[in-house]
Amino acid sequence: MTTRFDEIIDRRETNAVKWDSRKEVFGTEDLLPLWVADMDFTCPPEVIDAVVKKAKHGVYGYPKQPPAFYQAIQGWLKRRFNADVPKEWISTIPGVVPGIRMAVEAFTKPGDKIIIQTPVYPPFYSSVEDLGRHLIKNPLIEENGYYTMDLADLEKKIDARTKMLILCHPHNPIGRVWSKEELTRLAEICAKHNVFIVSDEIHSDLVYEKGTHTPFYTLPEALSQRTLTFIAGSKTFNTAGLFSSLAISNNAELLRTFTQTAAQFGVNHLNLFGIEAMTAAYSHGDEWLDELLVYLRENAEYIINFLETHIPQVKMWQPEATYLGWLDCRGLGLPKDELRKFMIEEAKIGLNDGASFGEEGVGFQRINFACPRSVIEEAMTRLKQAVDRLG
Ligand SMILES: Cc1ncc(COP(=O)(O)O)c(C=O)c1O
Repeated sequence: MTTRFDEIIDRRETNAVKWDSRKEVFGTEDLLPLWVADMDFTCPPEVIDAVVKKAKHGVYGYPKQPPAFYQAIQGWLKRRFNADVPKEWISTIPGVVPGIRMAVEAFTKPGDKIIIQTPVYPPFYSSVEDLGRHLIKNPLIEENGYYTMDLADLEKKIDARTKMLILCHPHNPIGRVWSKEELTRLAEICAKHNVFIVSDEIHSDLVYEKGTHTPFYTLPEALSQRTLTFIAGSKTFNTAGLFSSLAISNNAELLRTFTQTAAQFGVNHLNLFGIEAMTAAYSHGDEWLDELLVYLRENAEYIINFLETHIPQVKMWQPEATYLGWLDCRGLGLPKDELRKFMIEEAKIGLNDGASFGEEGVGFQRINFACPRSVIEEAMTRLKQAVDRLG
């Protein structure tokens, strides 16, 4: 049975970073791009209709968020996470990365220590270092492809200068959805030492088992009142180019400080089309997302089965969330730079090099499997042929 996600959409020469930046990123256009985190699918039809309707209006002046925008978000968070979020808990920011940077600016000072759990999404590093804060790594523990937090190491690394932890929840690139127990233990340690938590939940809609994601702001107030959570429809509905995200906190004063800082830097507004897209997606996107998750899970299963059968030197663990697979290529025995070169020049697939997520990622590659199954099949065939040639 074919689904809407099987359709090949030609994104070449549409100014899509994933496709049209291949030459700059990989040095060649002759590869299948399976890297940056957007999907090769169109977004839900209701989103397209809403954006087209606004585009046809033809007046693109400064927008505001109408009540329907907040109602859509509240309805979504209730249906998907059983979370009750008053409008007063919500603030706006064009992107989650700008949001993280604003939180670093608002709640820490230059020289303060900020903890990240590695390997992790590269802008976590730059958001800390570019702003003159001191980066502290609390590496995750990997055992047979499954990652857990090292909370003993975390507590050891906290001192009087440690002011913030940036959490990736669910975690990119390793695909974990942190359990309520893990989150609670993490939150207890941070609360005890007065460490502020920024919870990046941009991938939280993309969990494969409904009900497994615990939004940080739903933890008891004692544990969540010094946290700021970021969400967005951008990964979920493939609207990253519309630059519209949300910050959520149950602490009114903290949210005010964040919003004021964002306003000081002029990054508190949303994009006109982003408001329309978010309202439509959060109002009507459930069924589309449920279908998408089935398709994505099957793509992941396809890769895992293919690797087990044909390329046992490369392994992938089924992510609990995200459309990002973390390929363990250590069995190929290639040195760091050779592995990236091998993927580009031999397999002709464009992946994210594991080393870009931190030294713990050396020997790994990240594959974005949010594309039609036929593209995944082609990518796996290319990889197998390249590995066979290695001898
Ligand atoms: C964990 C994480 N945070 C943030 C982003 C990007 O957020 P934005 O485009 O809203 O800045 C990504 C994109 O891949 C991501 O994986």
